[in-house]
Amino acid sequence: MNMSSSQKPPGSAAPGKKSDKAPGKTNTDPVRRRRFLQKCLGVLGGIGSLMAAYPLIRYIEPPPEAEGSSRVEIDRASVPPGTSRTVIYRGRPTIVVNTSEGYIAYNAVCPHLGCVVKWERGTESLVCPCHGGKFGTDGSVQGGPIPGPLNAVELSVTDDKIIIGA
Ligand code: FES
Repeated sequence: MNMSSSQKPPGSAAPGKKSDKAPGKTNTDPVRRRRFLQKCLGVLGGIGSLMAAYPLIRYIEPPPEAEGSSRVEIDRASVPPGTSRTVIYRGRPTIVVNTSEGYIAYNAVCPHLGCVVKWERGTESLVCPCHGGKFGTDGSVQGGPIPGPLNAVELSVTDDKIIIGA
């Protein structure tokens, strides 16, 4: 784009000419606006961080034990030998495992920091994916930074059902 001598970019004074701003007088509006925008961005960033952290906090913090059903029935066919199934019992994840010695059920919330343990068929143990915690089929600690055993959950078995909380 070619500019003629009469078209100057805003704020530029012709050589030898004084600016039309009064000397010594500063305009503070851009500074105030910048600070205001920085505060707004800070508040929005804080809200965004809280929104991003909420699911993580909900994941780590299991719901209160009093919530949820106090009796859960599942089909035996849904837990074939050597496999597990996790259900919600009294508002908490509860793992039911069909071991070679029969069915077992534990509150699946790891006593370390509250992650949900999984059944590892190959090692016949319950493992925590968060920090490598490991439990035996009796719920005892076999490794990792775990302060105590898993809490057993009462169950009974009928011809076709597993009843948790029986
Ligand atoms: S939360 Fe399970 S080992 Fe840390």
